[in-house]
Amino acid sequence: MTGTTIAYDLETINVAAQALLKAISEYRIVTLSGDLGAGKTTLVSHLCHMLHVQDAVSSPTFSLVNEYLMQPDGAKSTMPMYHIDWYRLRDADEAMDAGMEDYLIQAKNGEAWCIIEWPEKAAALLTMPHVAATISVTGPYSREIVLTPRP
Ligand SMILES: Nc1ncnc2c1ncn2[C@@H]1O[C@H](COP(=O)(O)OP(=O)(O)O)[C@@H](O)[C@H]1O
Ligand SMILES: [Mg+2]
Repeated sequence: MTGTTIAYDLETINVAAQALLKAISEYRIVTLSGDLGAGKTTLVSHLCHMLHVQDAVSSPTFSLVNEYLMQPDGAKSTMPMYHIDWYRLRDADEAMDAGMEDYLIQAKNGEAWCIIEWPEKAAALLTMPHVAATISVTGPYSREIVLTPRP
């Protein structure tokens, strides 16, 4: 996968969610950047729907991590999806103190998938291969997402 750019709106958001699914199946860790209100949580919610997550998907801003049980198509059993939000963290030290490395190690070992909002706050923790995705607002309902592998 090389850099991919996808334009979408709320009617075609599944095209973007599908690209995110492809990225996360391959790399297991995806970061999701974009301003407040860009549509990060909305997109994660559509991705989780594709992964047959039963729980309600909401912003983990107040909890740092939401854990969902997902069952990707073809998987025999459920696996954790960690929906992580570093918005409230100051830096990588705080992220380590909050136990964030453990989620990344689980993903690295193939035991979970991680999607991380506000990765810029603790970028130093992201030493393993992942895909960096950035959402830009291009109109009231239109968005653009750029997916870049960081092998
Ligand atoms: N194409 C789009 N994709 C995602 N959200 C959109 C889109 N068009 C409009 N919206 C609206 O923008 C807001 C995005 O909020 P949210 O997903 O919580 O953003 P973030 O998590 O980036 O802060 C929602 O109110 C959503 O309905
Ligand atoms: Mg959000």
